[in-house]
Amino acid sequence: MDFSEADSVDAVVASFADTPDPRLREVMTSLVTHLHGFLRDSRPSLAEWETAIGFLTAIGQKCDEHRQEFILFSDVLGASMLVETMEAERQAGDATSSTVLGPFHVVASPERALGDSISLVDGGEPCLITGRVTAPDGTPVPGARIDVWQADEKGFYDVQVPDAQPLGNGRGLFAADDDGRYHFRSIVPAHYPIPTDGPVGQLLTATKRHPYRPAHVHFIVEAEGYVPVTTHVFVAGSPYLDSDAVFAVKQALVRDFAPVDDADTADRLGLPNPFRRAEFDVVLQPTG
Ligand code: BEZ
Ligand code: FE
Repeated sequence: MDFSEADSVDAVVASFADTPDPRLREVMTSLVTHLHGFLRDSRPSLAEWETAIGFLTAIGQKCDEHRQEFILFSDVLGASMLVETMEAERQAGDATSSTVLGPFHVVASPERALGDSISLVDGGEPCLITGRVTAPDGTPVPGARIDVWQADEKGFYDVQVPDAQPLGNGRGLFAADDDGRYHFRSIVPAHYPIPTDGPVGQLLTATKRHPYRPAHVHFIVEAEGYVPVTTHVFVAGSPYLDSDAVFAVKQALVRDFAPVDDADTADRLGLPNPFRRAEFDVVLQPTG
């Protein structure tokens, strides 16, 4: 039988019928069904389809060890947030809300002691970030690993500006104390544009979308026997909280970075006075 528009899905789905892994068969069947539906709906010319293939090729070519353009593409389509949201529904229970990983978790965060600063260069408004990692019933999670990374006060991650920031600036891997508590020093991050010098940036320009994300600090919190949480704490009052380019804001993750004027505490913690302070407790869901 000739390949036809009416039978295209059946023909291609049948070609996957002997796939031994049932989940792979299910996913390929769904992909073919929706992809062909999209093509019948949007009816691209051959030239448009070549442009689309060229776009995906350019996305792949833009990726290297410090740049992940495919994650960025998934992010601006809301796909990353949809997968995150569905995963949280599946297993997170009463845990802290999750949000996107983003493309900048590309170097390992240096291990640091509680109270250390993750800001290794001058500039920015000093802040203290504190919190406690617990189970949903309030039981502390001693030794929980808290991996944080953030942009600087100009909105750049270390890997974006290697001449201005040493690798590891704005990053730290901490272990919570016996009571599940953690604290570290940093600077208040700025809002920033996602990278626009690649194909995803061209797409945003062509569709008149802005590239900005509200100011935030990334967290991955994990511990033996608990479901890890990938999330952010957002800075209250930051521009773009209402129109994040990657749809990642959840109100429960927004925190005041409140001004503190307390010379004794500043002195004890190695901060200039005044400084700003945010509190971010994290709830992990036990596995199983
Ligand atoms: C980030 O927050 O690092 C990020 C997330 C998605 C796209 C670009 C950047
Ligand atoms: Fe970020």
